[in-house]
Amino acid sequence: MASHLLTNIGELLTNDPSLGDESAVGRLTNAALVLDDGVVAWVGPAANAPSCDHVDDVDGRAVLPGFVDSHTHLVFAGERSDEFEARMAGDRYDGGGIRRTVEATNGASRDDLEAATKVRLAALRRGGVTTVEMKSGYALTVEGEARLVSIAAALTDEVTFLGAHVVPDEFAGDRDGYVSLVAGAMMRACDAAGWVDVFCDRGAFSVDEARHVLAAGRRANKRLRLHGNQLGETGGVALAVEMDCASVDHCTHVNDHELALLGSSSTVATLLPSAEFSTKSPYPNARRFLDAGVTVALATDCNPGSSYVTSMGFVIALAVREMGMTVDEAVWSATGGGAAALRRSDVGHLGLGARGDVVVLDAPRVAHLAYRPGSDLVSMVVRAPRDEFVNE
Ligand code: NIG
Ligand code: FE
Repeated sequence: MASHLLTNIGELLTNDPSLGDESAVGRLTNAALVLDDGVVAWVGPAANAPSCDHVDDVDGRAVLPGFVDSHTHLVFAGERSDEFEARMAGDRYDGGGIRRTVEATNGASRDDLEAATKVRLAALRRGGVTTVEMKSGYALTVEGEARLVSIAAALTDEVTFLGAHVVPDEFAGDRDGYVSLVAGAMMRACDAAGWVDVFCDRGAFSVDEARHVLAAGRRANKRLRLHGNQLGETGGVALAVEMDCASVDHCTHVNDHELALLGSSSTVATLLPSAEFSTKSPYPNARRFLDAGVTVALATDCNPGSSYVTSMGFVIALAVREMGMTVDEAVWSATGGGAAALRRSDVGHLGLGARGDVVVLDAPRVAHLAYRPGSDLVSMVVRAPRDEFVNE
């Protein structure tokens, strides 16, 4: 594969403190970057850049690692804008609408589901997402969940089995039966998923039920993540730490004890501000998490109920405006934080040897992501290993 030089970069964030200004985002100005064979091969001042097969002069634009969206529910059919409108008028989000999407999804053909998922994936990619996690969870039957997992697995390496999203109506009188099905036959049918997740919250699954499913996931050599503390202090954070989940996601309501637990663990807190936006819920204060030593990721949570959002730029803007993060912290959380939430060291940074997943902004500084919300600021996305250039 040919070597590729991106030069005349106005501001380059590498997320490698040993490069650039020694901050967590590893900032350089007037910089250049070489991609060789799909990996970062050289980073430094533009004036010292080596010669390469291809040269892209980005004319003073800002460059950063591709976004790592570590939490999406991308495989679904239908939409629930009526619920969104009702929430804006005062209704509360309680997850009950998940069953409507289950019905729509199970009623859709495989071709239609694949096509709809690809449209949403393309929107994420255009916005600079180069690594994406996708969950199942809108089928809630053995065959249906396996179908969603196989659609996701054709599109990404980071696939999560979320059979424990809610208890389907058919099992309303037999919760234990559903939990056993999820932890047994359904999980086996979804073997293509490397991750297991549970919606552990009010109206979904209890801590004990979630522990049962996660423990089965661990026995099946799956890696673990958890939806926790979205609707209240419902015990998900402590369970995630107990089970060494890679990430506990939402964390809308957390107390100081839970923050201390998280801070002394290797579990990442994935905050999803577009879910708070779309459910009109209070935003978590990210500063409390950071001060407690917690690693914070930001993700879109793209789903038709609580967050029909495909823009990491919008997520970053919310985190800066509403959650007390600096721009550098928010951008790190949307890149390096997402990588940590997926326990990946090859993405989320542009240190030497990292995958060459790169976003070029149509702006001189990365701060424009928060400063100009709603603008299409991505001018180019490079995704390794295919050396694939889009949006040029
Ligand atoms: O992460 N909280 C649980 N699951 C999704 C929402 C699903 C839905 O409402 O359809 C979430 O917000
Ligand atoms: Fe979610």
